[in-house]
Amino acid sequence: MTKCIGILTSGGDCAGLNATIRAVTLRAHHGYGWKTVGISHGTNGLLHRPVAAEPLDPARLGAVLARQGGTFLGTTNRGNPFAFPMPDGSKKDRSGEMVEGLRELHLDGLIGVGGDGSLHILRRLLAGADLPFIGIPKTIDNDVFNTERAIGYSTAVAIATEALDRLQPTGASHDRVMVLEVMGRDAGHIAIAAGIAGGADVVLIPEVRWTLANVVSRVAALRQTGRTSALVVVAEAAGQSDDAAVPADDAPGSPGVGQWLAHRLMKATGEEARATVLGHVQRGAPPTAEDRLLAAAFGVKAVDLLAAGKADRMVGWWNRTVIDVPLEKVVGRSRTVDPDGALIRTARALGICLGDQT
Ligand code: F6P
Repeated sequence: MTKCIGILTSGGDCAGLNATIRAVTLRAHHGYGWKTVGISHGTNGLLHRPVAAEPLDPARLGAVLARQGGTFLGTTNRGNPFAFPMPDGSKKDRSGEMVEGLRELHLDGLIGVGGDGSLHILRRLLAGADLPFIGIPKTIDNDVFNTERAIGYSTAVAIATEALDRLQPTGASHDRVMVLEVMGRDAGHIAIAAGIAGGADVVLIPEVRWTLANVVSRVAALRQTGRTSALVVVAEAAGQSDDAAVPADDAPGSPGVGQWLAHRLMKATGEEARATVLGHVQRGAPPTAEDRLLAAAFGVKAVDLLAAGKADRMVGWWNRTVIDVPLEKVVGRSRTVDPDGALIRTARALGICLGDQT
């Protein structure tokens, strides 16, 4: 009997989602003769009647799709089924309606592409739906537990690196300190990787406790060696790791740590400093080859797991291998940058200041 599986994307968009949807659909079709249904706007599509979902035709999902950013299914990071935001500002448990929506689709399994928060919610929702569920990790933040890579991270790092490549000439031409604030939520993965790849002088992440005084000293020391400009990368949550460094109410006209830092560096060093907040530019690009590969490998593995009768698992990347792990060993945890790990050691070895010493 032909089986039918569903796929949805949930949480913030990132590069590689379309490539993932394509890989799942192609594997289901070519590998098992299954049909795939795409659910719109994450779990929110399950609230519509009829459910907002469409059969995906493998013949129409050409390679061009794998090159496109975003997700053609749509997504949401504002639709927790168990505390759904209502128009009057209240929160309502709408998980029952969503489970009903899933039943309407008569699926044999569901694949959800999401970050830690989405995977947590989907696992809980699917437990009440009696439907096999497999998760695929995606997030530019790369903080999903038990996988070294999440889809979207490689592209975000490439964009942040390119931003540094573009900021450096302006810094050098104007003798300025150029501060780049990157995303990452509570983790500094994008910042440390882009900082190394883009030749930053200073990288500030939430996992390493830093002080403004140490950053000021490093910028001053660079000046003494004849350098007239500096590149500083700061993760969006870096300030929050150190209340003494960035008091929440002390941001000059902007809540961003990048603006705050540029302002403080200017005051402390007398040098011109400018901040660039990279923001959602990090999410929307055509995926790198690495993200396309990851999407293909994860998509294939997720379908194969359903075919093998597996459920409640997440596919992942570990030690150059595609793995799968129980979702209970993923959700509710977060994989932040290891302060003693290879990237931190590499940064220190290159002389990059992490703000914890001058
Ligand atoms: O989790 C991905 C992410 O881009 C974070 O890096 C960032 O903090 C957040 O989402 C931004 O969310 P929104 O798109 O809702 O502004």
